[in-house]
Amino acid sequence: MPTDTPPTPVTSRRSGKVLIVSVDNPPVNALGVDVRLGLVAAIDAAQADDTVAAVLIVGAGRNFIAGADIREFGQPPQPPALPDVCNRIEACSKPVIAALHGAALGGGLEVALAAHYRLAVNGAKLGLPEVQLGLMPGAGGTQRAPRLIGAGPALELMLSGRHVGAEEALALGLVDRLGRSDDTLAEGLAYAQELLAAGAPVRRTRDAQGLADQKASRSALDAARADVAAKSRGLFSPQKIVEAVEAALDHPFDEGLRLERTLFLQCIDSPQRAGLIHAFFAEREVVKAPETRGAQPRPLASAGVVGGGTMGAGIAVAMLDAGMTVTMIERDAESLARGRANVEKVYDGLVAKGRLSADAKAAVMARFAGATAYDALADADLVVEAVFEDMAVKQAVFAELDRVCKPGAVLATNTSYLDINEIAASISRPQDVLGLHFFSPANIMKLLEIVVPTQVSADVVATGFALAKKLRKVAVRAGVCDGFIGNRILAVYRQAADTMLEDGASPYQIDEALREFGYPMGPYQVADLAGGDIGWATRKRRAATRDTRARYVQIADRLCERGWFGQKTGRGWYLYAKGSRSGTPDPEVLAIVEAERQRAGITPRSFSNDEIVRRYLAAMINEGANVVHEAIALRPLDVDVVFVAGYGFPRQGGGPMKYADTVGLPQVLADIREFAQEDPLFWQPSPLLVDLVMRDKNFDSLNKIA
Ligand code: 3HC
Ligand code: NAI
Repeated sequence: MPTDTPPTPVTSRRSGKVLIVSVDNPPVNALGVDVRLGLVAAIDAAQADDTVAAVLIVGAGRNFIAGADIREFGQPPQPPALPDVCNRIEACSKPVIAALHGAALGGGLEVALAAHYRLAVNGAKLGLPEVQLGLMPGAGGTQRAPRLIGAGPALELMLSGRHVGAEEALALGLVDRLGRSDDTLAEGLAYAQELLAAGAPVRRTRDAQGLADQKASRSALDAARADVAAKSRGLFSPQKIVEAVEAALDHPFDEGLRLERTLFLQCIDSPQRAGLIHAFFAEREVVKAPETRGAQPRPLASAGVVGGGTMGAGIAVAMLDAGMTVTMIERDAESLARGRANVEKVYDGLVAKGRLSADAKAAVMARFAGATAYDALADADLVVEAVFEDMAVKQAVFAELDRVCKPGAVLATNTSYLDINEIAASISRPQDVLGLHFFSPANIMKLLEIVVPTQVSADVVATGFALAKKLRKVAVRAGVCDGFIGNRILAVYRQAADTMLEDGASPYQIDEALREFGYPMGPYQVADLAGGDIGWATRKRRAATRDTRARYVQIADRLCERGWFGQKTGRGWYLYAKGSRSGTPDPEVLAIVEAERQRAGITPRSFSNDEIVRRYLAAMINEGANVVHEAIALRPLDVDVVFVAGYGFPRQGGGPMKYADTVGLPQVLADIREFAQEDPLFWQPSPLLVDLVMRDKNFDSLNKIA
């Protein structure tokens, strides 16, 4: 009779006296409850069987074990807990060997640390990345890693969350040897047999002596504590990691483990953990846009970029870095020389810093070509247009692309605001036209909005996502509208900030309030960095179509009229000493603000930092809801990813929509209705927000639909 018992994710088989325990839990062998049960059962079986002399733990597929099953966090706990599983492995009276390939991360590495001997093959990635999820190692990692490799290196691994390769793991002492081939099972078996032949004893990490030098351990701990205080302002779990390692120094192993458990559970309960794990899953969810299902991406070996300014050059560098061949088109020889210099400058910077050799730079630049005639793009698989933000100029460029590009070439625009449907409709192949909205600097910023016009074919959209993957960017699907997802929402919350400015807050207080919330910089610091002239040009362009009933704050225009564009002109909202990137408050700016208030007949009032944040975020969330309501963003999580990856929203908040769920949508709506009493035109509650509150739902309830 067939049974409906699901296959067990942990299987055991024999090879001589070695029991091979294989974890097979696709996609990444996460340590879900069945894996934990299976591991304990396998160790118990090995212990009970006199013919087993050693245990070898391996992972099936591409990884050893990528860690705890993150989906279980926040759910009711299911025994056995992972620390108990690790203790059971360590307590085994027969040597346990872990053979690592692919990811051995978090709980996966903790399983390996509980084993008695470790081997890693080429390509293995070891690490304790829990901090990136608002967590700390919670299965003995904070106690075993310092004992094995010393407090300093262990703290560095846990606080950075970085992955180390096999060779570095050997140098650190995380593993005992490297496999000579990529065959993890064969290498692990050979190692196990060699250990048996040598009569190698059980060797428990809990007894390792990496903390024996008390003085060195203490000073590493002090340094880490100071570092955390300086760099991880407002983050919860780094402090807990330091506390746990302190316990490793001060207390016996079992006591340390108990404290680790308490601290780990505090991390699990923190909103930062919920926000960071939301960001983790959201970044993996956004790439599953409907057009990518079943559509085959087109080839992507060679690319063209039209325009060699800020964006064109940055996009060219991003593509060159990904190994592509790039041809740049500019309007004349002089502009082309400037465009090439813009590209070369990036690599010269790396050479000067010793991060790239002159030969390597030459090899990259050999894949770069420039031309002033469009025929050079005849063979390009994909072209990204990054010329001036002007419909007529862009349409002229697309007419040229239509003329010269091979059939099937993807024709993309990097426009910030223009109607891509209009661009597409102006040529003979609208099905090939896509928006690829990069962010500045394009070779650094992680976000790429893939803007989907109405006539584009699915495989072109899929090619956009494939390009993002190749460039290691986070791609988010957006519909066509003024500003797509990010810039459209930005325009609204910037207006909320400017209104607070005119009503009585200083730009410095607004920046401070948002830094306190977790932003690396406030909006006025960002404006100074990006250059005030860009926003000014947009405001002038839109002046004719602006709603005359809407409040318009002119303070930024007064600064721009004086040529104060920010860092590049030495002053903007802040004053910058020559060569300095950090500004100081400018009394003249405050005087201009005051004069503008008088001109507008406003009696200034005071704002608390809390109110500043509430208004700024309410504007962001409300417009985010509109963007989802109008299907410009597929789901709230798409808005979250745009703001975390491209606009500095603190990752531990998960993104504005996740944050709204944390605060509670009724509260957000109540705030908006309160603010609407002063300015009902600006503060119109989004129909989606009103509907969700009415149905007692949150934004996350819309995230499951894809
Ligand atoms: N739990 C549950 N699901 C996981 C997971 C985990 N730990 N890690 C990855 N996944 C899922 C992803 O969500 C994705 O699912 P999907 O296909 O349905 O979207 C799938 O596995 C594949 O993941 P990626 O797309 O990220 O695949 P890559 O091959 O690009 O990367 C990886 C693989 C390097 C393992 C990467 O997924 C990763 O970094 N994972 C997280 C590792 C981690 O943070 N581990 C620590 C967990 S916390 C912990 O262990 C606590 C312990 O100390 C008690
Ligand atoms: P830029 O002014 O630095 O560069 C534009 C380049 O295009 C110039 O080098 C110019 O010589 C060239 N050019 C103009 N007309 C051309 C033509 N007909 N043929 C070939 N080359 C031509 O402008 P920037 O900042 O690079 O912006 C380019 C586009 O990217 C715009 O659409 C802008 O809205 C968009 N964008 C800009 C961002 C930014 O932060 N600067 C961010 C995201 C998008």
